[in-house]
Amino acid sequence: MKDGKWAVLYSTVTGNTEQIARRIAQAAGDADIFPMADMPEDLSPYEVVAIGYWLRLGGPDPKTMGFLPKVHDAKVVLFQTHGTDPGSEHAVTAFARAAYLLGEGCEILGTFGCQGKINPAMIERRKHSDPDDPHVGEKAQRRWERAAAHPNEEDLAMVAEFVAQMKRKLSLRQKYREKDAQRNADYTRGR
Ligand SMILES: Cc1cc2nc3c(=O)[nH]c(=O)nc-3n(C[C@H](O)[C@H](O)[C@H](O)COP(=O)(O)O)c2cc1C
Repeated sequence: MKDGKWAVLYSTVTGNTEQIARRIAQAAGDADIFPMADMPEDLSPYEVVAIGYWLRLGGPDPKTMGFLPKVHDAKVVLFQTHGTDPGSEHAVTAFARAAYLLGEGCEILGTFGCQGKINPAMIERRKHSDPDDPHVGEKAQRRWERAAAHPNEEDLAMVAEFVAQMKRKLSLRQKYREKDAQRNADYTRGR
């Protein structure tokens, strides 16, 4: 494993998630970026594996759902774009759904989410759908209007800050794991 090297994998249809993926790779510096379909079989050369997807039915898009179980024994960063507001129950639950699908031995290092403009074809379709559908009506309309401006420059700046935060977390974890191991050894020796 190469210290500090990132693999950035992403799934996208209309480009929002790809934009975030490119920014993550740029901010990580030492990074390889792959569309999900070109994901390398061996991810062990990477210290961090960042996985990005768009939300569909409150979870990762179907392509990503198929790929997540193939990722194992990795420090994972999950990133997602969605029509819903960041931090909403819908968005947070989607991270849990993605994390649940990962293969064995994965550890979540962090998560990043932002809104992404919604395909106009879908908006048009939804106008004519079941009125009980939570995506129909004025509230949904306002949410979609908010999403239409994203990802924006502010989101991209937040991505860079997020990556810096992940790097800090990695080095602090190393430091405190060593200290904790020492404390544990002292404790078991009865000091
Ligand atoms: C068929 C379809 C289903 C969607 N379902 C959801 C959803 O369940 N929750 C959500 O927040 N956004 C949903 N969205 C919005 C997309 O996740 C969002 O626009 C995303 O940024 C698209 O990413 P992309 O440009 O990388 O393809 C949906 C969009 C489409 C086209």
